[in-house]
Amino acid sequence: MNLSNRSGVYFTRPKKIPYEKNSFFCPVSEWETGFYNDPLTINYDNFGGFPGERIDKSHGNSYKIKLIFIVFFPIQREDLIMSVEVEQKMLEMMQAKKIFLKKYKRAKQLFNDLVKSQKRLLEGTSLEKKDDEAPDKINVKESVHSINEIRKILFETDRLILNSIKNYFSTDDYFFQHSFGVCYIGTIVLNRFNELFSQYINNMLTAKFKENLEHYQQDEMPPFFYYPPEAVRTISMGYLIHDIGKIMIPDSLLNKKSGLSRKELREMQKHVGEYGRSFLKMNDIYDVYVENIIKYHHAAIYLNEKNTYPVYQSPSDLPPYVKICKLADIYSAMTLKRSYSEAVNPTKVVNTIFREYSGRDPILQLILYSFVKELGTCPEGSILTLKNGQSVYVTNSQGPEIIIFTDQAGHTIEKADKIINLSSPSSKSQNLFIDGQHLPKTPIEMFDRLPGYLKEFHLE
Ligand SMILES: [Fe+2]
Ligand SMILES: [Fe+2]
Repeated sequence: MNLSNRSGVYFTRPKKIPYEKNSFFCPVSEWETGFYNDPLTINYDNFGGFPGERIDKSHGNSYKIKLIFIVFFPIQREDLIMSVEVEQKMLEMMQAKKIFLKKYKRAKQLFNDLVKSQKRLLEGTSLEKKDDEAPDKINVKESVHSINEIRKILFETDRLILNSIKNYFSTDDYFFQHSFGVCYIGTIVLNRFNELFSQYINNMLTAKFKENLEHYQQDEMPPFFYYPPEAVRTISMGYLIHDIGKIMIPDSLLNKKSGLSRKELREMQKHVGEYGRSFLKMNDIYDVYVENIIKYHHAAIYLNEKNTYPVYQSPSDLPPYVKICKLADIYSAMTLKRSYSEAVNPTKVVNTIFREYSGRDPILQLILYSFVKELGTCPEGSILTLKNGQSVYVTNSQGPEIIIFTDQAGHTIEKADKIINLSSPSSKSQNLFIDGQHLPKTPIEMFDRLPGYLKEFHLE
């Protein structure tokens, strides 16, 4: 989207039709203007009709249109109908996204090359390769540098941009987008967990120390879970390749639109077992972090959790970094389009995860707290409904900050007025509250209602 050089149709019309009974003339101040970048989207009824036409039968009277202005000319920046605040934000986002997209494509290329070469090695084949395909052999250890390059890109990028590249319309890039997402979310949550856990231990030790050292009970201490930076790097890499075992599963099964049979389910589950192990062995990876992530990222993280594998007798003993991987995995998978379901609204997914996993055990609670602290209850890119019926787009999970994009009847407002912080006193005084009962389930169902500039932000 190039906001400084757009062309389109600029129109003007009286605000009220008829402005005066039996008269079509009204003062200039009473005319409103608008902009459409696609003439085909104009609802000509809005203009009151064409000269000579009789209109406004709904008011019980009709009259002939005498005059209408429709001016076609290139729209310059100063003509944009967005407020400076929103326009500035969108321009910044689009610029940053352009830079990001170059790196993102490079990251995708590196990841896909790695996957292709691993697939060949695991299958023991040396397929004839085309020039643009990955080299025959890429060893994972040798490609750590490349993977770190991918990680760097992740952490330099604005979250709204990361969200905007999510594919709502197809599953083409699913494997890369999901791996990328789990690595990003898992790592930010792990870092937050580290921070909170250190604070927790510090506070506890200080309190105990102050209280009375003689009464200190060793078994009151929780196990120590702080992960040093080197471990975080390895874990983060593990998150990126957590599903690597899936490269041995046929695409027909991975992309199946209906439910899986028992046999198919068993095959699918091999990605954490047999196939995952083959990958580790082939690459001489004996790192316990990576092994645990691959093996247990679908395991139960509380006692008797359903639909989990492999069986793990004591879920509370699973290391926190594995539990974090599981939450990141669920979040990433649900917020992307799958072969069998549409992408779910991020706010809904955070709610679902919170409801499922809260109140289980203290460490899981701390993980969950880190998760919500990082992503926010309304992550960037979510679409929410306000109690007054308006739909809004979340630009910042802190607040959250939003752009209102429909009126109370659900009609799109192309004109972006301003970015509103829903926790500010002025929002509260205007009764702008999120309607938690009527959250749109999928972003796709609202996509057509998004104004042009937000659609373009997502599509480019
Ligand atoms: Fe998995
Ligand atoms: Fe996964």
